[in-house]
Amino acid sequence: MALVTMREVLAWAQERKVAIPAFNVDTLEIGQALLETVEAEQCPAIIAVGQAAIRDGKLAALGKIVSHLAADVSVPVVLHLDHGQSVEQVVQALCAGFTSVMIDGSRLSLEDNIAVTRQVLQIAQAAGASVEAELGAILGAEDNIAHDDSKPFLVRVQDVVDFTGAVQVDALAVGIGNAHGLYKGRPNLDFQRLQEVKDVTNVPLVLHGGSGIPGDMIQTAIEIGIRKINVATEIRMAYVQGMLSASANGDYYEMVTAGKDAVRQMAKSKIDLFLRR
Ligand code: G3H
Ligand code: ZN
Repeated sequence: MALVTMREVLAWAQERKVAIPAFNVDTLEIGQALLETVEAEQCPAIIAVGQAAIRDGKLAALGKIVSHLAADVSVPVVLHLDHGQSVEQVVQALCAGFTSVMIDGSRLSLEDNIAVTRQVLQIAQAAGASVEAELGAILGAEDNIAHDDSKPFLVRVQDVVDFTGAVQVDALAVGIGNAHGLYKGRPNLDFQRLQEVKDVTNVPLVLHGGSGIPGDMIQTAIEIGIRKINVATEIRMAYVQGMLSASANGDYYEMVTAGKDAVRQMAKSKIDLFLRR
């Protein structure tokens, strides 16, 4: 089917009190494995293009690939810009057919974050696309997006009140101690803070840094109100490890097949968890 916006799949998740997986795509083969899995599992999904892929010159190409693959599946699929860095980048994504964009103004002051998000909302609305914003910081570094760890990273509840009062975004990513990349040990997620945020807004909440968060913590996050969970590192790692596991003969297609199998398994395990099956 044709691509849909994030609004539609978040409404589906909200009705069922589950979280939609947002998987990052970096190659054609990862895209194939992801779309095959969401079809097999009948799971609406967000396929996100991140900053590393964009720096590698793949924004438009991955967009075309995802649109093409999504046309052959029966579940709703969203093509999403992950951690959009500027209004210009958002425009590029929308011109490339993305149905959803994130503008990551979390490094800015609240005032500037509101201002850039407002600009993006105007443009995205004209294009019929949905918008995700971010408050608080996602720790660690992914795709070279690193935050200054000396700054407060937990989302401030009053900021959520002020931000969501000023701009009507479709989804809000919040920093509650979550981090990009793999965690050293059990993550230290502030669920009390998440509950306080949930108590002051109806905007669907997003958990970034989904790789390596234990199942029980994912369940708690979903119970409180997380409706979208981003997974990038574990998908990429599955692909690489799968390929390496089949490299003995140096046969490209043996490696690709194993890489895709590993991505399918990883994506299915996240879908089972996020959809609480
Ligand atoms: O925006 C992408 C994500 O937050 C992914 O984080 O690489 O830790 O899974 P992750
Ligand atoms: Zn992220």
